[in-house]
Amino acid sequence: MDDSLDTGVPHIARVYNYWLGGTDNFPADRAAAEQVMASFPDITVSVRAQRAFLGRAVRYLVTEAGLRQFLDLGTGLPSAGNTHEVAQHAAPECRVVYVDNDPIVAAHARALLTSSPEGATDYLDADVRDTGRILEAAASTLDLSRPAAVMLLGVLHCIPDDDQPNAITGQLMAALAPGSYLVISHPASDVATEQMTQSTRDYNQQAPVQLTMRSHAQVSQFFAGLDLVPPGVVQLHRWRPGAAGPEQDHELANYGGVGRKP
Ligand SMILES: C[S@@+](CC[C@H](N)C(=O)[O-])C[C@H]1O[C@@H](n2cnc3c(N)ncnc32)[C@H](O)[C@@H]1O
Repeated sequence: MDDSLDTGVPHIARVYNYWLGGTDNFPADRAAAEQVMASFPDITVSVRAQRAFLGRAVRYLVTEAGLRQFLDLGTGLPSAGNTHEVAQHAAPECRVVYVDNDPIVAAHARALLTSSPEGATDYLDADVRDTGRILEAAASTLDLSRPAAVMLLGVLHCIPDDDQPNAITGQLMAALAPGSYLVISHPASDVATEQMTQSTRDYNQQAPVQLTMRSHAQVSQFFAGLDLVPPGVVQLHRWRPGAAGPEQDHELANYGGVGRKP
């Protein structure tokens, strides 16, 4: 059975949607989301900060790094400030390919296919582990001989160590042109450690897809071979901070970073 079609068990896209205040979720998602909120109340701060990080990273890439192409993996249910909206607001000719493996995200993909006439958006129903298929399909919208940004925000923790998440980022970046970027956000195992351990255990007891939190060193490892854009891998509200989000001295169990392929 494809667990992702079963609305009777929690699925991360819909749980995340609930934490963000959305309504595209089911009782099982809400129960799991509430249980995590009970053991880790900061989760709602963390997910909002992650969306703000997405906005800052995409704006940086378009306006300062000159990027015009994005491959957004683990897109999530459409929300405020989707990648193409942020990118095309800065440069309407930006092209974005979205990838997710949740059929409910696919059902809502219409909201992601609202490209500016100058640019393009596309949606692919695929698993991030299927890098060959993703790159092949993305090439019909993106020119992969030119720099592009791979976005993996809040998704690598859905890939257990056994499935070699480092190989996934490695394969994707190896296929991209020099001057391409990797953007990652990843929940932390070494900030608010006790709460993160408990809430992850609570979630994993209910959900078919197990989550793996990772340390600063483990998240940094995803950027091996790339040049980290300052300030490096940091708690993501501290990455080129904006007006939104928690105070800078807040301890946020969520890392973010941006790396450039030399
Ligand atoms: C927590 S949401 C993050 C959404 C968005 N990237 C953001 O940062 O706001 C994670 C998304 O990754 C998707 N996802 C999880 N595992 C995946 C996999 N193996 N392949 C593709 N998508 C996956 C989920 O369906 C969900 O939509």
